[in-house]
Amino acid sequence: MRLCIWVFLVLVAYGPVWTILADQSLRTERISGSAGDVLEDDPVGRLKVYIYELPSKYNKKLLQKDPRCLTHMFAAEIFMHRFLLSSPVRTLNPEEADWFYTPIYPTCDLTPSGLPLPFKSPRVMRSAIQLISTNWPYWNRTDGADHFFVVPHDFGACFHYQEEKAIERGILPLLRRATLVQTFGQRNHVCLKDGSITIPPYAPPQKMQAHQIPPDIPRSIFVYFRGLFYDVNNDPEGGYYARGARAAVWENFKNNPLFDISTDHPTTYYEDMQRAIFCLCPLGWAPWSPRLVEAVVFGCIPVIIADDIVLPFADAIPWEEIGVFIEEKSVPNLDTILTSIPPEVILRKQRLLANPSMKRAMLFPQPAQPGDAFHQILNGLARKLPHEKSIYLKHGEKILNWTTGPVGDMKPW
Ligand SMILES: *[C@@H]1O[C@H](CO)[C@@H](O)[C@H](O)[C@H]1NC(C)=O
Ligand SMILES: *[C@@H]1O[C@H](CO)[C@@H](O)[C@H](O)[C@H]1NC(C)=O
Repeated sequence: MRLCIWVFLVLVAYGPVWTILADQSLRTERISGSAGDVLEDDPVGRLKVYIYELPSKYNKKLLQKDPRCLTHMFAAEIFMHRFLLSSPVRTLNPEEADWFYTPIYPTCDLTPSGLPLPFKSPRVMRSAIQLISTNWPYWNRTDGADHFFVVPHDFGACFHYQEEKAIERGILPLLRRATLVQTFGQRNHVCLKDGSITIPPYAPPQKMQAHQIPPDIPRSIFVYFRGLFYDVNNDPEGGYYARGARAAVWENFKNNPLFDISTDHPTTYYEDMQRAIFCLCPLGWAPWSPRLVEAVVFGCIPVIIADDIVLPFADAIPWEEIGVFIEEKSVPNLDTILTSIPPEVILRKQRLLANPSMKRAMLFPQPAQPGDAFHQILNGLARKLPHEKSIYLKHGEKILNWTTGPVGDMKPW
């Protein structure tokens, strides 16, 4: 009986965005007033952004030293810069700017094995802010409240990859009035301040496109996941990594035929997601991962296991309607929860996922396209306008404290 339902479902599943874009006859569904409508907003004419001119040591030189920064999941900090340079929202006249953007790549500092570590980021940031606040009058007007920064590392501007340490650090004091554009999002967390814009992590659009399969290939995998269940190197005792949720997936479902889960990362990874109905998106060290982007782009229903996660562009994308949310403590019931979702609910989620505007909003393509993640960031910034009068400080007034924070952060960079 159950099998019949899945056979039925897999036959009506949809393909990735590129084929959908090519075939407008495919039936898609949208939720009026949210998905689609807001995602298709055009930010041009609604805001003006001034880009500070910085010495190349803050951006281009870092990239030259290690071009791998262009392909890791934090690459949005680089592509956003490139996008803004030629965007029609850019103004060369700071007097008419609504927003000020400081082009720095704080995450482009990789270990020899390619791991981006954020240890220098606080000093790079402080140095850049020192520079813009000395050479231009705009930072001091608001102590940064009309400035935005792209901080895509694990815990945003907390600049540490371990949650405990990130919480201990807190958001870099100099960034506490700025708007942070970041991948990290979790409710009631010191590393996500009010008014931040949560964005998708970078996933390579060309590579994903190259792995698309015909949309009529059936979705014969019920649940799909590839990735770590344990991180024995960094969490030898277990339970800390993914707060135990990934370990619980493995322990409960490693022998369940409905679950195609493994640590192997096959070359057919993207194809497999297009052959799956549900794709697990559990937390790892951080609550977010590129799986979220991959699931949406490949039309696989994201099963989000990360309590209190704040998802990308949540004011524009109806995550509750397209995804399935599982509490971390309910992982042992995952099979029952997923198999009891009625087929018509699954079909509706698949139809919503087929909406190309949602897929576009997840990607940072080169060149940019209307409605893509760059445009959603601008939409988010535009929706925060006009600035409240109260952000402008009285002459000589200062709010930020330049000497607070760990001593190591105060060293010049
Ligand atoms: C902004 O304020 C700092 C002191 O906090 C000062 O050193 C700097 O010169 C000011 N910038 C401008 C452009 O006046
Ligand atoms: C700034 O922070 C430092 C260290 O936390 C503290 O000693 C100092 O009093 C603070 N300055 C102001 C003006 O609040």
